Amino acid sequence: MCGIIGYVGHRPALPILIEGLHRLEYRGYDSAGVALPEDDGLYIAKSAGRISVLEQVIDAEKDGSTGIGHTRWATHGAPNDVNAHPHCDATGRIAVVHNGIIENYLSLRTFLEQQGRTFKSDTDTEVLVQLISFFYEGNIEDAVRRALHDVAGTYGIAVVSADEPDVIVAARKGSPLIIGVGKGEHILASDASAILAHTSQVVYLNDGDIARITADGARMTTLEAIPVTRAVEEVEWSLDQIELAGYEHFMLKEIFEQPTSLKNCLRGRLDLNEGTVHLGGLVDCSRELTRAKRFIMTACGTAWHSALVGEYLFEDLIRVPTEVEYASEFRYRNPIIEEGTVAIVVSQSGETTDTQAALREAKQRGALVLGVVNVVGSTIARETDAGVYLHVGPEIGVASTKAFTGQVAVLAMIACLLGRRKHMSPAAATQFLTALAAIPEQMHDILEQADQAKEVAERYHERENWLYLGRGYNYPVALEGALKLKEISYIHAEGLPAAEMKHGPIALITEGMPVVFVATAGTQYQKIISNINEVKSRGGSVIAIATKGDREIAKQADHVIYVPDTIEPLQPLLATIPLQLIAYHAALIRGCNVDKPRNLAKSVTVE
Ligand code: F6R
Repeated sequence: MCGIIGYVGHRPALPILIEGLHRLEYRGYDSAGVALPEDDGLYIAKSAGRISVLEQVIDAEKDGSTGIGHTRWATHGAPNDVNAHPHCDATGRIAVVHNGIIENYLSLRTFLEQQGRTFKSDTDTEVLVQLISFFYEGNIEDAVRRALHDVAGTYGIAVVSADEPDVIVAARKGSPLIIGVGKGEHILASDASAILAHTSQVVYLNDGDIARITADGARMTTLEAIPVTRAVEEVEWSLDQIELAGYEHFMLKEIFEQPTSLKNCLRGRLDLNEGTVHLGGLVDCSRELTRAKRFIMTACGTAWHSALVGEYLFEDLIRVPTEVEYASEFRYRNPIIEEGTVAIVVSQSGETTDTQAALREAKQRGALVLGVVNVVGSTIARETDAGVYLHVGPEIGVASTKAFTGQVAVLAMIACLLGRRKHMSPAAATQFLTALAAIPEQMHDILEQADQAKEVAERYHERENWLYLGRGYNYPVALEGALKLKEISYIHAEGLPAAEMKHGPIALITEGMPVVFVATAGTQYQKIISNINEVKSRGGSVIAIATKGDREIAKQADHVIYVPDTIEPLQPLLATIPLQLIAYHAALIRGCNVDKPRNLAKSVTVE
């Protein structure tokens, strides 16, 4: 969703801001803008549409060495030039860019109108900058602090003032901000990917922090003006991980990265000799985890699907009741959290608003809360009691791919770790972990035959309705396959447990309708073959994801994509990949923007 970039240092700010905005593009946006303090005020340029449109209207001669920039994903008011950020106060001497939502903006706006202020835009952000201006008495940091005392809602903000041209004031509450520490310069951003080209040394702001940033330093205080120290940390991501590296799209790059990303996720964690797993982030809560009476996993979208796989894994391996909740439902559902409940929040970005709220709800009701998160230093990673990082590297494509396999692998490791402390024998755990360690190599095999998925997409891309069916561990895979297809190719697709088909959806099957069966070898294989026959006898076209060597299924299905054999609980790690590829190719053939699907944002930071 929205992105923030800021620069203060010794170089011209404008090219750095524009480059940073491009790095933030993947998050999804509909307008963009920049503001730079100048001798006689502020230079502001903004426009609806892509950053390339902004580049046409900016004055590239502007060489000030302080500035802020923004990509906006509209929440309050249409995505037009006026509503684009930065927003200015009436004097044109203070500018703000803002991620998040000011919930009490209407009452603040009424108050400011009573004070004679007028407004140009429909945004909550313009209310904030006018409020800062209302409190301004010559010190921009003080004015921001006073204004934020009156604000309800969430924000990550960057503020510049023409009166203090070498300063950026930043503040966060519920919306991430990171300060990159360079030599004689600082880069502020909502996302590490916009900083990496300049430095890997960063400071993560905490909720409630206000930072006064100059070329030489960043001074942090609380909302109450109490000085606080924030450590400088090293970002583990590298620049080449956020570049296309010869691939046409980030989604394709990330699908093909999975053998490596999964290897990184597993690295140093599997102990095949002892039949156990080392997860440093869980050591401190080892006792509570072993004694857990119930697990609740909560997440959104693809992360919810990986949590569903996690539910099967936990109940199989740990034998402790586990349930999975949409974060958006959990947070408003008056959930019951008894003693011994452990909540696990799963999130690639660590910033999804509903997942954050579910985390807080679980915590407030007394659960121990674990995070399964990819982005280091993200809000969810910081607010959970303990957790495990995915270490799959940055995921830039809006459609989640390598994060899904990373999440499933982490949940499998947690399940094995805790299972071993309960019922699992060392031999059973070693067998499980040996199978897990083999998955990255097996992923290579699937990717070598990526053309099969392309053929399926070529054959069926014009069909507007698809079904995805699976049983057991493959049921969440079916859901994930359907989500991938609909979000990037705009084809309607539904994922279901295969047996549910007979309870209604079978009525949808018509001649040639593509029905994808995730039909790998396992306990429910024969049952899924029966479901395939039911579809075939009604004219549906069956695309089966099957285990290598299964010749029988080729007699029933119209197309078979084979994946290597593995134990049933780990099949989602392999069976999902052909479905990612089918979605990718279908979207490409249909002319869709694979990495930036319409209406979608990489990280959903609004309700
Ligand atoms: C789908 C997708 C989304 C995310 C969901 C949660 O491809 O990417 O469904 O999985 O928005 O995002 P995170 O994992 O960042 O909390």
